[in-house]
Amino acid sequence: MVENFLDLLHQRKATRAIASRELNAEIIDKLMQAAQLSASCFNNQPWRFLFLTDEIALEKGRKALSKGNSWAQTAPLLIVGFSKPDLDCQLSENRNYYLFDLGMATQLILLQATELNLVARPMAGFSPQILKAEFSLPIEFEPFVMIAVGYEGNISELEPNLQAKSLASRTRNPLNKNFFHNKLPEQMQ
Ligand SMILES: Cc1cc2nc3c(=O)[nH]c(=O)nc-3n(C[C@H](O)[C@H](O)[C@H](O)COP(=O)(O)O)c2cc1C
Repeated sequence: MVENFLDLLHQRKATRAIASRELNAEIIDKLMQAAQLSASCFNNQPWRFLFLTDEIALEKGRKALSKGNSWAQTAPLLIVGFSKPDLDCQLSENRNYYLFDLGMATQLILLQATELNLVARPMAGFSPQILKAEFSLPIEFEPFVMIAVGYEGNISELEPNLQAKSLASRTRNPLNKNFFHNKLPEQMQ
C-alpha cells in the first residue's frame, strides 16, 4: 500500500518480468484517464496512444519490438505512444513541444500502472516503420514510445542477464549532479 507520492515513485521499478494474465477493461480505462489528465502546452493534448490488447493487435505490436525487448512479448498490453509536431506548440528557436507532452502523458501511464500494482516499462527499442506499416499510421505521425504493461511476472523465467538486471537496485546520479540551487556550478557537464 502506497502512503505517499515518493513511495509510489520508489515502487515504480521497470522490471522486465511481465505475466501474460489479461488486464480488465477498468484498468485500461484508468490508464487512459491518467494520461488524459496530463498537462500540455496550451492544453493541446498532442499525445495519441494505441492500446493493443487483442491477440491480433498484440501480435502486430510484438513484430515491432527489438530483439533486446523480447521480454515484452508476454505483456497482455502494449501501448504505442505517437504524435506529430503540428499537434502542439511550435515556438521560436525550434521549441517543438509535442514530444515533451507525449512524455509527460507517458509518465502518468507509468505511475497509474504502478498505483494499480502493475509493471509498466517504457521502450525505445522498436521499429517505427513496422508499427507504421502494421497499423497504417499516417506518414506524418511518429511512434515514439512503446510501453509494456502487465502484472509482475516470474523473474526466473527471464534470460539470466535480465534476471540480474531486474533484481538490481535502481541507480541515479547524486542530486547535486542534475539539480542546482540558485546558481549553476562553475563546471557544467
Ligand atoms: C525513453 C525511454 C526508452 C527506454 N527504452 C527501453 C527499452 O527499449 N528497453 C528496456 O528494457 N527499457 C527501456 N527503458 C527503461 C529504462 O531503461 C529505465 O527506465 C531506466 O533504466 C531506469 O530504470 P527504472 O525505470 O526502473 O528506474 C526506456 C526508458 C525510457 C524513458
